Amino acid sequence: MADNINNGRRRLLTTVTTSVGLVGAGALAVPLVASMKPSARARAAGAPVEVDITDLAPGQMKVVEWRGKPVWILRRDETMLLELASIVGDLSDPDSAVVEQQPVYARNAHRSIRPDVLVVLGVCTHLGCAPSKNFDKGVASGLGDDWVGGFFCPCHGSKFDLSGRVYKNVPAPTNLEVPPHTYVSDNRIVIGIDQEETAA
Ligand code: FES
Repeated sequence: MADNINNGRRRLLTTVTTSVGLVGAGALAVPLVASMKPSARARAAGAPVEVDITDLAPGQMKVVEWRGKPVWILRRDETMLLELASIVGDLSDPDSAVVEQQPVYARNAHRSIRPDVLVVLGVCTHLGCAPSKNFDKGVASGLGDDWVGGFFCPCHGSKFDLSGRVYKNVPAPTNLEVPPHTYVSDNRIVIGIDQEETAA
């Protein structure tokens, strides 16, 4: 991952992050940076948000807010990553053909920059309800024997996999949206600024 970050861009983004919001324990430990956080009003208007994922263990997810919407950050474990290939035939858009739903750098099977870290808006693409995570498998999930973990929208039953890809035969028409984001270090993500736009 670190090899993929252009050094010049890293310096630029490090500078940029002094003016964005910071989420996570690190924010409390660095008063100077915290004091430079934009107001809630500025964040609602679209200011970038920086997130520290150092403490995010494999299999865990955290939720932050950007532009008034929830952003899910999921660190997928090895098993979760293997499941992504096993259900391709059940998905409507497994290859991210609907280009509006993700930046070019997230047009891959894992729909992310780092294969293990998914960054996606937690807003159903049907009518905007909030899906729930359901990482149980099979019968224990309540979503059928063949459920391998993902997200379920309780409003009308849409289902999404662990990359936010929508299943066939549900009301939601497209995959969940991947917001613009980039890494300023191995474990710090800025939501709202695009990664250098090269295909992953
Ligand atoms: S809003 Fe999610 S299925 Fe309708």
